[in-house]
Amino acid sequence: MQVMLTINGEAKRLSITPGDLLLDVLRRECYFGVKRGCETGECGACTVLVNGKPVNSCLMFAAQAEGTEILTIEGVAPDGNLDPLQTAFLDHGAVQCGYCTPGMILSAKALLAERPDPTDAEVREALAGNFCRCTGYLKPVEAVLAAAQAYRQAGSRGVSTKSGRSRGQARKKR
Ligand code: FES
Ligand code: FES
Repeated sequence: MQVMLTINGEAKRLSITPGDLLLDVLRRECYFGVKRGCETGECGACTVLVNGKPVNSCLMFAAQAEGTEILTIEGVAPDGNLDPLQTAFLDHGAVQCGYCTPGMILSAKALLAERPDPTDAEVREALAGNFCRCTGYLKPVEAVLAAAQAYRQAGSRGVSTKSGRSRGQARKKR
């Protein structure tokens, strides 16, 4: 079967089998920023935005993504200029081994699109689905708060979302 997706702004028609997971299809298409972790919806390493909402791509069939817009970390800085979130993660030492970083940044991007001035608790909630074994979470939270300020000063938001704050159906909340 075939599926039509828009990945990082590029329309794609992909051949898939009905059982293909979105995670596998994206990595097959060389979006290696989509990390394979637990594959059970626990770690958030495979997070992508589907129509602006964080989704664990290991829990979503590619066929379910028909017609959606998908953002992976590769689409966050397509021209090579780092997004303020990426800069803030670097500046705050929030990137250590980096395995969780793409998912964290995408979750944070979705948050800031809807909550340009989030509280510490709101940032922690937004990152709750993204495991990090290295940083202890303090630095990523500080980075997201700093990026929020940078977005506000620039008068921009991270990414448009189509509706509501709730996470996609494939997002398992801990
Ligand atoms: S690989 Fe861990 S949530 Fe998808
Ligand atoms: S930086 Fe290593 S898991 Fe988060």
